[in-house]
Amino acid sequence: MADAPFRTVFEPFRIHSVEPLRMTTPQERGEAVRAAAYNLFRLHSQDVLIDLLTDSGTGAMSRDQWAAIQHGDESYAGSPSWFLFKEAVQELFPYEHIIPTHQGRAAERILFEVVCRQGMVVPSNTHFDTTRANVEHTGAQALDLVIEEAHDPQGWHPFKGNMDVERLEALLAERADDVPCVMVTVTNNSGGGQPVSLANLQAVSQVAHRYGKPLYLDACRFAENAWFIRERELGQGDRDVRDIIRDMAGLADGMTMSAKKDPMGNIGGWLAVNDDAVAQECRNLLILTEGFPTYGGLAGRDLEALAQGLREVVSHDYLRFRIRATAYVVEALTAMGMPCLQPAGGHAVYLDARALLPHIPPLEYPGQALAVALYELGGVRSCEIGTVMFGRQSDGSEQPAALDLVRLAIPRRTYTQSHMDYVIEVCERVMEVRESLRGYRIVSEPPMLRHFTADFAPIAG
Ligand code: F0G
Repeated sequence: MADAPFRTVFEPFRIHSVEPLRMTTPQERGEAVRAAAYNLFRLHSQDVLIDLLTDSGTGAMSRDQWAAIQHGDESYAGSPSWFLFKEAVQELFPYEHIIPTHQGRAAERILFEVVCRQGMVVPSNTHFDTTRANVEHTGAQALDLVIEEAHDPQGWHPFKGNMDVERLEALLAERADDVPCVMVTVTNNSGGGQPVSLANLQAVSQVAHRYGKPLYLDACRFAENAWFIRERELGQGDRDVRDIIRDMAGLADGMTMSAKKDPMGNIGGWLAVNDDAVAQECRNLLILTEGFPTYGGLAGRDLEALAQGLREVVSHDYLRFRIRATAYVVEALTAMGMPCLQPAGGHAVYLDARALLPHIPPLEYPGQALAVALYELGGVRSCEIGTVMFGRQSDGSEQPAALDLVRLAIPRRTYTQSHMDYVIEVCERVMEVRESLRGYRIVSEPPMLRHFTADFAPIAG
């Protein structure tokens, strides 16, 4: 027993620089959220204790990334920081053309503007909101073809992010001329941060290529996805995660990337393609809005920090800790009876607000009620992913979303296990008072993406 491995998977780093958290009382938070019209995006982040709004750009950079920042070279064209960045990207994603952008959605806008036309359709496992919006902005349709199992929040499947290959094949058989490319999101953020298997990527790649269509990865959380492959897919358990990532990349013809996630940046992104003609058109658009092709929308120092982040995220110790830390929260919440999306994803915990608060009908936004309660009771900021986000239809009417979830996204290397134990305790407190929670109505909202700016009011009860 003496040399058996230890059960505790601890943070594989120690803290070098700290940011204080400003403590607040429930009364202060009640006032803050009222002043924010019950919209958590409108809070001052100083009034938040544990900020789980997003894992995007909110992670902690390492000592070596801060050192790399000092090494940044701000030459307008051909900076050594650019070549360092390009090399780091191509080591994992050996695509021909790497096009830097200020963040993921800029890569999406450029790619879809080049490949999409009115009336086309772009299939994906599940498009992220900005991906969908950028596809639709060109007049094309963004179509989600995730496997059936993904629609059951409690069901267990090792790769719930997989694409339904039969439906993809049927779409291509019927409308190949209308499909400019196939996308796969790894991990599948809008489907609960669930991974896609190598076998599924292989099958998708084969079908797409049989019809002559390029496959693009929306690869923000590529390292987490590769770790799940290593842990769950037959024959992958002994492999270096970098080789798994290269296999994933090799099945596709390009990628869009938000470097605010797994590349450990606070800002950044890129677009990568193999096709010379597509790359040329993308670079022309890049120059219009992002910048010269050797910096995109980024400073030389950002490129250096990302190159270093890419080296760090493929550490097995880091990924083991990261995936375990998310599962730890889901296990604790499940044990206390909090309905959570299963199995745990990579970057976030998803609470099933509709199941927790059956007395609040979907059109009174149970996700919003749960998110506001987590903030008022414990200062935890989360994000509703449900009827507030998706309920408004293009004709102005309102429909319940498929699910009413609340996402607790976990920034990388930022919070410790005791922060997470506190979050678990706040959830427990919310469960105790769940019957007293009331729904919300929307007082005013913009025509699009209302969740960012809508004003809410509690429904008296
Ligand atoms: N694709 C996926 C899968 C994403 O999760 C995001 C961002 C993007 C693209 C867009 O990247 O923000 O750099 O422009 N997701 C963040 C989130 C905002 O909170 O999940 P971006």
